[in-house]
Amino acid sequence: MRVDIVTIFPQFFDILDLSLLGKARTQGLIDLRIHDLRDATHDRHRTVDDTPYGGGAGMVMKPEPWGETLDGILDEAAEPPLIVFPSPAGEVFTQATARRYAEEPHVVFGCGRYEGIDQRVFDWAASRARVELVSIGDYVLNGGEVAVMAMIEAFGRLVPGVVGNPESLVEESHESGLLEYPSYTKPAAWRGYEVPEVLLSGHHAKVAAWRHEQQLERTARVRPDLYEAWTAAQD
Ligand code: ADE
Repeated sequence: MRVDIVTIFPQFFDILDLSLLGKARTQGLIDLRIHDLRDATHDRHRTVDDTPYGGGAGMVMKPEPWGETLDGILDEAAEPPLIVFPSPAGEVFTQATARRYAEEPHVVFGCGRYEGIDQRVFDWAASRARVELVSIGDYVLNGGEVAVMAMIEAFGRLVPGVVGNPESLVEESHESGLLEYPSYTKPAAWRGYEVPEVLLSGHHAKVAAWRHEQQLERTARVRPDLYEAWTAAQD
């Protein structure tokens, strides 16, 4: 899978060399390329923003560096990629979005800063490829970089081969529609806290039933919205 990231802070993504995703990169499972938006500026100050037409606070990212950078990526691509702009004004990113991105051969992320990117960048990009605005939650970040990092963590591990044992992906929170059950490892007693008896029993059906109960209890308590959706889907 090919992933391009356009940003004014390329160093932000240095940490993608670490851990599972770093391994996925060296194994060639994820071909990640970072583009510095300022490389497509042509003034002494490498300007990427300007004041908004119509007035108002803050600065808006100029369209020209975006056009030039995206041209370079699109002209090289065999098929039009999916272009994702993280934005608090976008649709909310979920596990279903992560599954969908993991199946794309090529995703381009455009990280906005300041008060956003000139609207014409989205309109023009949509004439050349599929474009999505995506939010990682109902709060405002200073820019899209952290949002892209979160999205890559979420979909990268779903790309076939990235996680060694694919079974470990099945029982996670948000895959079944319920939150995951609590986990324990050795020792059986620690600082006065004991591992629930049933987990030591070796009785697989009882363990499975206990875990399912824990999932239901936890989801109903912490995320009534998910619990309701899960219950409705069982009918
Ligand atoms: N940029 C700023 N806030 C954001 C959010 N919540 N999600 C995605 N991108 C953003």
